[in-house]
Amino acid sequence: MTVIKAENLVKDYGLNGTTVHALRGVNLEFQGGEFSAIAGPSGSGKSTFLHLAGCLDTHSGGAMSIGGQDVSKLSKRQLALLRRNSIGFIFQAYNLIPVLSAEENIAFPLTLLGVDKREIRELTESVLKQVGLEGMEKRYPKEMSGGQQQRIAIARALVKKPALILADEPTANLDSKTGREILEIMFRLNQDEGTTFIFSTHDSMVMEFARRVVYIRDGQVDREEWK
Ligand SMILES: Nc1ncnc2c1ncn2[C@@H]1O[C@H](COP(=O)(O)OP(=O)(O)OP(=O)(O)O)[C@@H](O)[C@H]1O
Ligand SMILES: [Mg+2]
Repeated sequence: MTVIKAENLVKDYGLNGTTVHALRGVNLEFQGGEFSAIAGPSGSGKSTFLHLAGCLDTHSGGAMSIGGQDVSKLSKRQLALLRRNSIGFIFQAYNLIPVLSAEENIAFPLTLLGVDKREIRELTESVLKQVGLEGMEKRYPKEMSGGQQQRIAIARALVKKPALILADEPTANLDSKTGREILEIMFRLNQDEGTTFIFSTHDSMVMEFARRVVYIRDGQVDREEWK
């Protein structure tokens, strides 16, 4: 099943009266169950692509469909539901909420979905175990290492069991041992649950783990490698 389909996708940003051409006609498809990386130099458009794939921003030209739905035909509310129900995000800067404890951060998306408290507790406990952080539920982000915070961010993305996880440089700022552990957690989920993962990365270890690496340059697909 095609999860993401970009056709001649264009994204321009307005910046102080000028235009930045971040994506210049990207043609890319991702199928369900992929474990794929998008690589390319800084500024080549990796994060921009992930933001569009996650419906966090709107494109300027071409077409984008997610799960077979043309995103430009969806209302704001439908987009919010799609994001909330089907997509998990893991971002470079973790984006944990500093005033919430680890377990509250993980529970947050479920609270938004209106899941009942008991179920939230069970789900939170189970994902904390999956990422190897049992016992850390009461800690605040600032009381955890970068790798632990990243694992909390993964747990938060996993807890609603999304079909698709978009991860923007998931191993940036981590030492290679922690980075490997995190990739192994994600790979296991991909194998066991069939969760689709798309990463952006500069990290050669992520590219080694990935089954497919798409290289982008100056806002266009340069080449691809399948393994
Ligand atoms: N909000 C914005 N406003 C203006 N320009 C932007 C904005 N966001 C990104 N850009 C520009 O768009 C281009 C693509 O940026 P993007 O963040 O997608 O690159 P990237 O491949 O993720 O880079 P990196 O590897 O450094 O994270 C860059 O030239 C960047 O400066
Ligand atoms: Mg980026």
